[in-house]
Amino acid sequence: MPGQLALRRVEPEILDGLSAGDPRAQASRRDLRRINALMIQAGIMARLLRRRVARPPRRILEIGAGDGAFMLAVARRMAKRWPRVELTLLDRADLITGLRIDEFAALGWRAEAVTADVFEWLTRAGHQRVDVIAANLFLHHFDDAGLASLFAGLRPLTAVFIATEPRRGAVALAASRLLWAIGANDVTLHDAPASVRAGFVGAELSGLWPRGDGAFIEERDIGPFTHTFVATDDPR
Ligand SMILES: C[S@@+](CC[C@H](N)C(=O)[O-])C[C@H]1O[C@@H](n2cnc3c(N)ncnc32)[C@H](O)[C@@H]1O
Repeated sequence: MPGQLALRRVEPEILDGLSAGDPRAQASRRDLRRINALMIQAGIMARLLRRRVARPPRRILEIGAGDGAFMLAVARRMAKRWPRVELTLLDRADLITGLRIDEFAALGWRAEAVTADVFEWLTRAGHQRVDVIAANLFLHHFDDAGLASLFAGLRPLTAVFIATEPRRGAVALAASRLLWAIGANDVTLHDAPASVRAGFVGAELSGLWPRGDGAFIEERDIGPFTHTFVATDDPR
């Protein structure tokens, strides 16, 4: 099994090919919310934000934000110390409901949805800089050339980039194959192991981030399932 994981393998995920309203996609996104909870992804992201973002941010962008449930869980952990954040939730699928926007508003965060492919969005001119760009279970969709191009586009837009991704390891792969036990559907049972095989180890992401003067990079595993990456111009 370790040999199977030695190299990243990026393959199409079924969810990416389904329309937002497809019942199999809706069920798989429900699975994703439970998987995020099992992996404690929101807690891990909140901890990285607290440790690595020096001042309360005014503007945060999440790329590959899905239905916004993950970032809402993060906001619930952060909103007391970080009030009045302007949050942009970008995803190529149109999944952010008015109810979700209201849930952020109840925490004092003003959220807006942008429906766009991130690569196409980056080619548009005139983006405002943000204080933080975040990504959860998103980077693993792309091969190294795609990630290098993504990072080159994101780099001028932010001082801090934080990602929480699948860890490419035997324990995570074995766990991803047991998701039938929580009632995961066929889409999730395909996509979860595919995500682990496309996940990260070591310093694979660090090598792809465009270095600048004084950039601080931290890349490491947290627990058996999560691989984290932080790039910041303002190390604390
Ligand atoms: C595994 S889901 C994670 C969603 C969310 N971050 C979460 O944790 O629930 C990956 C998301 O990336 C989106 N996505 C994939 N490729 C994209 C692209 N090129 N541009 C924007 N979004 C993309 C998909 O639509 C999907 O919602």
